[in-house]
Amino acid sequence: MKLKRTHNCGELRIKDQGQKIVLSGWVENYRDHGGVAFIDLHDRWGLTQIVFDPQVAPEAHAVAHTLRSQFVISVEGEVRPRPDGMANSNLATGEVEVYVKSFELLNKSATPPFDIQHSEDVNAETRLVHRYLDLRGKRLQEKMIFRSRVTGMIRSYFLGHDFVEVETPILTKSTPEGARDYLVPSRVNPGSFYALPQSPQQFKQILMIAGFDRYFQIARCFRDEDLRADRQPEFTQVDLEMSFVDRDDIIAMLEGLFKSLMKDLFDQDLKLPLPRITYDDAMLKYGCDAPDLRFGLEITDCSDIFRDSGFGVFKNAIASGGFVRSINLKGAADKLSRKDLDEMTPYIKTFRGKGVAWIRMNEDGPQSPIVKFFSEAESKALYEKMNAETGDVLIFVADQEKVVCQSLAALRKLMGAKLGLIDEKEMNYSWVVDFPLFEKDDQGNPTSVHHPFTAPRPEDEALLDTDVFAVKTNAYDLVLNGNEIGGGSVRIHDGDMQQKIFNLLGIGNEEAKEKFGFLLDALKYGAPPHAGLALGLDRIMMLFLGTDSIRDVIAFPKTQKAFCMMSEAPSTVSAAQLEELGIELSDIETGEE
Ligand code: AMO
Ligand code: AMP
Repeated sequence: MKLKRTHNCGELRIKDQGQKIVLSGWVENYRDHGGVAFIDLHDRWGLTQIVFDPQVAPEAHAVAHTLRSQFVISVEGEVRPRPDGMANSNLATGEVEVYVKSFELLNKSATPPFDIQHSEDVNAETRLVHRYLDLRGKRLQEKMIFRSRVTGMIRSYFLGHDFVEVETPILTKSTPEGARDYLVPSRVNPGSFYALPQSPQQFKQILMIAGFDRYFQIARCFRDEDLRADRQPEFTQVDLEMSFVDRDDIIAMLEGLFKSLMKDLFDQDLKLPLPRITYDDAMLKYGCDAPDLRFGLEITDCSDIFRDSGFGVFKNAIASGGFVRSINLKGAADKLSRKDLDEMTPYIKTFRGKGVAWIRMNEDGPQSPIVKFFSEAESKALYEKMNAETGDVLIFVADQEKVVCQSLAALRKLMGAKLGLIDEKEMNYSWVVDFPLFEKDDQGNPTSVHHPFTAPRPEDEALLDTDVFAVKTNAYDLVLNGNEIGGGSVRIHDGDMQQKIFNLLGIGNEEAKEKFGFLLDALKYGAPPHAGLALGLDRIMMLFLGTDSIRDVIAFPKTQKAFCMMSEAPSTVSAAQLEELGIELSDIETGEE
């Protein structure tokens, strides 16, 4: 490299005119305008127009036409103002151009498979295979730079609050967070496997026992689970834990973080304290534990009204332990066609919803396939409870609670968007609190709502022996625009209680010792009361950047099948490697189709 750059490609301004400079970067957009040739030269910082003029530098001009998109060059030249009327106000460097004196070709490039600055509509596979080219484009590069900036702010916030950043192991033992583990075979311990951490949960608790008091880490987590738009098999948490604190201390610490992020990133004043809603209320009013509070459309329970109804669907749902719940789509009567209403039923099939009943409150009275089955008293009570007025549409789902909640939550979201009730610019934060400790698994046995290290609320401890599903915790989730961006809890710091919870989860003493012996041991040696939380950094980036895809905020993401299109991981390994590990593959396990 003979020419050493003096400036970057986003830096030159009109005040630099007359300067002799050197720029380095990638060639874009070769244009020949009758003798004078132009290219855009770009790097991370921006783009500068470069001019090859035969009058100024005949030699450079003579070879300029050999330059192709994504060739890497350094140019030496003079900064000049663009001619009158040629300035580009959309470009930071748009008032100037560089007249080349000479240039150095640093590397050629094969013809890129797509235009890197306009890749949005290019097939996703092609882009993932050539991820380096997609990342070279402005769209993704800006996102990664933003992410780095936010991570830096988060790190300085916690360091500023006296937290210690500690790295915890990647090759470790299973920490259950509800997903399958990724396993790594050990060569030196044949037949034994490490698990990649689903989170640093046990280690951060052990750091509290070790007296660190305030820990944080930008931690990579690994979960083998079904992927969705907001999930990746490896993702990043901002993980933290504090000693001698209760729920409200953790909440206040996080509120401080988001207040400063909102100010520094978006110049918005976040109003504190953030609203809190209990888990029970969230399920009742919004049908889910991460409600989008940017709009209303609350759910109302109408089961009382229809207990003895002449409408069999409602009556039978209630009789078999279910519920009838409704949403009033205020003023939506003339916005929703009959087709819109009928399409709601297939929409909830994924939640095993059987149907959506509706009543359109027309000028000339209610229009509906079901009101004819209601008694006068039922209709009256319903309209009163639902505050139903002319112009409204009531929708109903009758079923077991889970189906009702999931269906109405999905319909609420759909209608919020369809009726234009969502302000896309709003950043709506809230806490969901008072989660239950356990929920029922498919067999009706208790399974942790968060993870098995979450403490029951002290006032609910007695219920552990009588009514486990009634036990609540001091766990909390942070929700932004209907997305769970973080979750945590007050932990168990008493070994006997931890053992008891394991037992309730069907983990016997022996199994607990084998799986979590180190934590149970550590709890014997002066564990302080402690609590913590982990933020989903990738999800926060998605929401801050307004993108729907988690792949946009991760440099090297994986596909739906947990595959890296660029490196082609996972891949098969040699017979020798397998032998060294003492592993033999059956035909099915190779995954060959
Ligand atoms: P939890 O399992 O709720 O808690 O995870 C914390 C946050 O991480 C994000 N998240 C994910 N992001 C992308 N891809 C995934 N597959 C994925 N899974 C989770 C979510 C979630 O809120 N140890 C506890 C925290 C604690 O109790 O302190 C834990 O891991 O935004
Ligand atoms: P049916 O008696 O099946 O003709 O249903 C009468 C109306 O009730 C139709 O509008 C259905 O969409 C609706 N419906 C059916 N099942 C349910 C249900 N479980 N909850 C709410 N509405 C339903």
